[in-house]
Amino acid sequence: MRRAAAALTILPLGGCEGVQSVLDPAGRDAQVLSDLFWVMLIGAVILWVALNGLIFFVTRIAPQPLSRKGAEALIIGGGIVFPTVVLAGLLIYALSEMPKQRAEGEGLTLRVTGHQYWWRVEYWPDGAEAPVVSANEVRLPTGQRSEIKLNAERVIHSFWIPTLGGKTDMIPGRETRMSLEPEKPGVYRGQCTEFCGESHAYMAFGAVVMTPEAFDDWLAREARDAMTPETETERRGREVFLAEGCGGCHRVRGTAASGNVGPDLTHLAGRTTLAAGILPMSHAALRDWIADPAAFKPGVEMPAYDHLAERDLDALATYLMSLE
Ligand code: CUA
Repeated sequence: MRRAAAALTILPLGGCEGVQSVLDPAGRDAQVLSDLFWVMLIGAVILWVALNGLIFFVTRIAPQPLSRKGAEALIIGGGIVFPTVVLAGLLIYALSEMPKQRAEGEGLTLRVTGHQYWWRVEYWPDGAEAPVVSANEVRLPTGQRSEIKLNAERVIHSFWIPTLGGKTDMIPGRETRMSLEPEKPGVYRGQCTEFCGESHAYMAFGAVVMTPEAFDDWLAREARDAMTPETETERRGREVFLAEGCGGCHRVRGTAASGNVGPDLTHLAGRTTLAAGILPMSHAALRDWIADPAAFKPGVEMPAYDHLAERDLDALATYLMSLE
């Protein structure tokens, strides 16, 4: 019994750490939310212990009737004044933290759009005329508050990076916004938090926080056209990619593939995950994904390419893995 109880306690505590935990903040906004959580939790524990102590005291240790005056003072003091003061204090504290969370970004703007079950991510540095387009990964620099504009293509999604801040809904036809101020470089994880269809749970993304210098280098690389194939297999893979019509949906800048329906693949292999946070970025995973995407993500819009010969599938994955 005791062991089972310990195991059951450890299970939920496992969620208190790691790349997707609100209790492991890596940014200013998440820190505020985490502080708020601890203040509420510790306050609630103190109240619970005090109240139960009082009940125990008056029923078991010193049971005696209160005078009418004493009872009235207890009801007015404990039932009206005390909760009003405590709740007003908490309200003022929580409201005072809100303007910072709603503050406008300075400099970098991201435009993220929720699709069926992936994310289009555009980076608009200060003064840029055209965005750097990517997908399924959000990269942010430390040391500044970045503005994030949110849109959705067809149904409501919700954008959430628990280690960095709160969540905001993405609504078709109505742009919403939020801002984030990351503080600790690292690789985290975001997740769609509004039910959007059968693969809602498989709609995640990598969230990477970088130092400003590393971020600028990365963005400059990301803005470039795709690498040119260097080996025979990579060239063969690009031929397969273009011949199979992948370019009808996907864009690889610098090639004839200019589709705008699916994720931009120009620098696919530079991302931390494949298929919006659900597979590792590897040759084997790419092969399996292309052959049968629905096996990993029910309801996905990408068709299966299981008719490809093994050799072509291999070459295609090799080519895509070269797109760093
Ligand atoms: Cu997108 Cu849930």
